[in-house]
Amino acid sequence: MTEQSPALDNLLTESRTFPPSEDFASRANATADWYAKGDEDRDAFWAEQAHRLHWDTEWSQVVDWSDAPFAKWFVGGKLNVAYNCVDRHVEAGHGDQVAIHWVGEPGDTRDLTYADLKREVSKAANALLSLGVSANDRVAIQLQMVPEAIVAMLACARIGALHSVVFGGFSPSALRQRVDDAEAKVVITSDGQYRRGKAAPMKANVDEALEGAESVEKVLVVRRTGDDLDAEVPWTEGRDVWWHELVDGQSEEHTPEAFDSEHPLYILYTSGTTGKPKGILHTSGGYLTQAAYTHNAVFDHKPGEDVYWCTADIGWVTGHSYIVYGPLANRATQVVYEGTPNTPHEGRHWEIVQKYKVSIYYTAPTLIRTFMKWGADIPAKYDLSSLRVLGSVGEPINPEAWMWYRENIGAERCPIVDTWWQTETGAIMISPLPGVTSTKPGSAQRPLPGISAKVVDDKGDEVGKGGGGYLVLDKPWPAMLRGIWGDNERYRDTYWSRFADQGYYFAGDGAKYDADGDVWLLGRVDDVMNISGHRISTTEVESALVSHPTVAEAAVVGATDPTTGQGIVAFVILRGGAEGGGDEAIQELRNHVAKEIGPIAKPRQIMVVPELPKTRSGKIMRRLLRDVAENREVGDVTTLADSSVMDLISSGLKTGG
Ligand code: WT7
Repeated sequence: MTEQSPALDNLLTESRTFPPSEDFASRANATADWYAKGDEDRDAFWAEQAHRLHWDTEWSQVVDWSDAPFAKWFVGGKLNVAYNCVDRHVEAGHGDQVAIHWVGEPGDTRDLTYADLKREVSKAANALLSLGVSANDRVAIQLQMVPEAIVAMLACARIGALHSVVFGGFSPSALRQRVDDAEAKVVITSDGQYRRGKAAPMKANVDEALEGAESVEKVLVVRRTGDDLDAEVPWTEGRDVWWHELVDGQSEEHTPEAFDSEHPLYILYTSGTTGKPKGILHTSGGYLTQAAYTHNAVFDHKPGEDVYWCTADIGWVTGHSYIVYGPLANRATQVVYEGTPNTPHEGRHWEIVQKYKVSIYYTAPTLIRTFMKWGADIPAKYDLSSLRVLGSVGEPINPEAWMWYRENIGAERCPIVDTWWQTETGAIMISPLPGVTSTKPGSAQRPLPGISAKVVDDKGDEVGKGGGGYLVLDKPWPAMLRGIWGDNERYRDTYWSRFADQGYYFAGDGAKYDADGDVWLLGRVDDVMNISGHRISTTEVESALVSHPTVAEAAVVGATDPTTGQGIVAFVILRGGAEGGGDEAIQELRNHVAKEIGPIAKPRQIMVVPELPKTRSGKIMRRLLRDVAENREVGDVTTLADSSVMDLISSGLKTGG
């Protein structure tokens, strides 16, 4: 087990509970008997959930787990994911319902109804076909939060092509790595993006990434910043195509084809414990079933009544499942906001909640802590009375932030759902159910109906109440990943080898049961950091550091951070034993990492050290470095090859950042 931070220890003494109000409970989508239904006949439970969707061909078997860990859900069933998210709502008479209230950072807005979305997605599907994209091809998408991002994803789904969305903040080399791994045929991006009030180039970065990329035939470019962008948009004749020139002229008619339930839907890359990101593969029927079910049950979403807002970016899985697929399958009306929460002022989110009467708001603990820092007087200036459900995702939420959220945003009235899940799980797995669960600040509490999870010890035996260990998923679930793109070996190895005897999926998280048997998540137990709810591997940052000519060796740890959950702290040995490392040199190293991976990976702090603590077998003891980074007394050093190293490090620290 990894050591616990003081904040997490704190969680386990939390004893406040908040039962649902009678009024909420009487109207809630989910009911308490779902837990028993899910346990008694899991297949029947999921079959019922799958009937939330339109199937062109009914399945013959709910789940086939005979080739574990490769699952098949709703075997033999056929459906079109985009049809389910768009067309069927129009056909049912809801074409005029707003699907997306889009808010641009500079203040421009656009409303898209379901009928608009159907037209746009059909045209984009026809455009992709005209570029030679067919079913099973891969399309990389690097776009900020503009409607075209969602349209592009659905257009891919509609024609059976896989999208691979790459977060807009990722560097050219991170984009290139993902484009190459998936052998993407088309890349979709924009000329530039608005960030904190300024137009910044995007296409130029994409061009840098794609230099010599063999698989890429076409680049489709959305015009977003236009004349606001100071720089020229670089253009490669024959390869590059403007979105508005190609898509706008397409036919609005496109007949969606029904694909197999296991037809691949998308690849989404996430950091693992090595430097190479893993292409997490999701498929169609099971994924959409669980995304729709959880969006309905966990957020108590009522189509036609609620206004839903998930503040994630489509570059992460939260955007895939809870902006695109779950909400649209459920005919949500949602807000999509392009910019940062403090542009042009720190009340931007609350201004939007007030304007659109947002009723369900889903965000990350790091942002809640940022709001706390900005002060409760800011949300207090706005009318937030439309809110009725609040959600949290990405990392454990500390009770203090939970209580602040409840009091200052939720008026002590809105249930808070702390949702635990991963890129790999595809959809929410552990969470309270609003209207059913008495919530506890800081605990994700209980696997959802139909889902099974356990906390086990080193040997894979379930621990008792009050016990701690590893979180495992002991039964397959519909939205589970179907593998790592192009690497079945790594798939088995990463998730299924740790508890191979039991056949459990190892999530990589530490967890505990409290005295009531509720689950408390305690953070990663591997070399993966969680920065503002985003996964970054220590090795990835280390590789970026050693790629700089001045660095001989580097070790990176995630240290507790009051705002971002964890902050990246790097220890570097400079080449030739250089003592150097003045402020400027350290600044350059931090920028180098940002350039190699993306600004989210920029170390908070870099310390130049003469040695790194290693075991006799040469493994870096990050535990000890974390002690230094968190200003704690250094722990047990007996397994160090040279026990004086820690003294050397502590005495000669040069820090920066
Ligand atoms: C890791 C997955 C799921 C979308 C966002 C992150 C941590 C996520 C919680 C939560 C405690 C959480 C875990 C998990 N995590 N949600 N509610 N409580 N920890 O997706 O990048 O795939 O990261 O995020 O450590 O393993 P991801």
